[in-house]
Amino acid sequence: MAEPTVTLKVTRYRPGKDSAPTLQSYSVPYRQDWVVLDALNHIKDQIDGTLSYRWSCRMGVCGSCGMMVNGVPKLTCAAFLRDYHGQEIRVEPLVNFPIIRDLVIDMNDFMDKLKSVKSWLVRKVEKPVTEGEYRQTPAELEKFHQFTQCINCMLCYAACPVYGLEPEFLGPAAIALAYRYNMDSRDQGRDQRQELLGSHHGVWECTFVGECSEVCPKHVDPAAAIQRSKVDLAKDWFKSMLLPWGTR
Ligand code: SF4
Ligand code: FES
Repeated sequence: MAEPTVTLKVTRYRPGKDSAPTLQSYSVPYRQDWVVLDALNHIKDQIDGTLSYRWSCRMGVCGSCGMMVNGVPKLTCAAFLRDYHGQEIRVEPLVNFPIIRDLVIDMNDFMDKLKSVKSWLVRKVEKPVTEGEYRQTPAELEKFHQFTQCINCMLCYAACPVYGLEPEFLGPAAIALAYRYNMDSRDQGRDQRQELLGSHHGVWECTFVGECSEVCPKHVDPAAAIQRSKVDLAKDWFKSMLLPWGTR
């Protein structure tokens, strides 16, 4: 009996050679335990070695295999063919980003945004190593733990209509990481981040559509981080009005 197959329609695009992206159809084996990434690897290995896309871990950890699958941002290593049974599967690059080639997008804007929010621990003064590590209680860790799960997959940027219209918007993951470090008891960079979060392209651009949290494969809730940051900024503003000498 012939092996069952599924049709994948995959974006092909070589900027400089092609005038616009097109969809190319490939017939690949349908296997219950295959994910979309397996199907792409089959195409690359058996049908067309010129297909370009990113992946690495194949286990939802590296964040590099994000693509649009039937119009929804997904990690292709976690999107099973069986969930699209009986359908053609359209695989396209993440929307809202420039395409470098085929399914590979340009992530420079995202990387710049992560850097701009100082997504690392900022210390004004480091204590000497001889004084030991910076310790935290479970309650202190709990304040930011869920935001540490971000794998920088950019699905939330592809889902965000505000980022789609206004690419200068800091965006969900960068704001979630800014919030994560602001809430970390070891960090002292809050003032610098708050300035950026409260700026023209910061949290106030978010219209609370909430799609960022819907599509996140790691159950991070960037929409909550954005709303909590708005509350924190409002509190900072009130404090600066009531106690101007204490906050500047
Ligand atoms: S917040 Fe979620 S969707 Fe956004 S980059 Fe991080 S892991 Fe990906
Ligand atoms: S290949 Fe690493 S998250 Fe999918």
